[in-house]
Amino acid sequence: MEVVITTTVEDAGRVVADVITQALRGGARVLGLATGSSPLAAYRELARRHREEGLSFAGVRAFLLDEYVGLPASHPQSYARVIRDELVDAVDLDPGHVHGPAGDAADPLAEARRYDEALRAAGPVDLQVLGIGVNGHLGFNEPGSSLTSRTRVKTLTARTRQDNARFFTGADAVPRHVLTQGLGTITEARHLVLTASGEHKAVAVAAAVEGPVTASCPASVLQLHPHVTVVVDEAAAAGLAQAEHYRDVLEHKIAGQGY
Ligand code: GLP
Repeated sequence: MEVVITTTVEDAGRVVADVITQALRGGARVLGLATGSSPLAAYRELARRHREEGLSFAGVRAFLLDEYVGLPASHPQSYARVIRDELVDAVDLDPGHVHGPAGDAADPLAEARRYDEALRAAGPVDLQVLGIGVNGHLGFNEPGSSLTSRTRVKTLTARTRQDNARFFTGADAVPRHVLTQGLGTITEARHLVLTASGEHKAVAVAAAVEGPVTASCPASVLQLHPHVTVVVDEAAAAGLAQAEHYRDVLEHKIAGQGY
């Protein structure tokens, strides 16, 4: 695992954009996309590179991590719509090649199985972008999620509904159920890049990176993956015991090592 600590959120966004750019230039054809506020700086930077530097997503297929049960893709807070607004429409990603679990599927349990199979057929994902919840969740894998879980329906914790209330009219308006790639599904991607910013993420980041591997902190599953890049600003890095070492590693990288 490589940990990159940046001074600002914008710097973190540029580093995540560098990781994605490196993957695209290296021939990545399947991207895993996350929603939430964490990757927004990176998506803005990718849009700029597309406009000003010709960075292209042509031919790329993208898969979302998760979706709210009950929300159609047209709902402003559905992740299908959010990713369109935040990234797809700002670059040359073909909207027909951007896939996510259907929140409004008549049978969410069957939809979870269908999505997992679709991912398996199209995969492996070359690069998966991830955020992290304050409680250590990845996608919508709440604490207690099996580290080998597949795409399925999960029930959100009260904490996550509270955290996401800002996108709705209040916590009660946040759907109770979600469809999420499982931790086993997510970790089938070849390379994972997790990004977080702000002091409210510091405890979760420290637990994920340096704590025990446990279902109580779903993001700790990253420690079992051979290729992970964690990009955090200083506030989110505040709980990391090995921060000095991570900075040292970054400063003394061997030429061509990449991310
Ligand atoms: C959300 C999403 C996750 C996201 C996380 C953190 O609920 N399901 O994919 O990474 O929680 O959200 P944010 O980036 O807005 O802090």
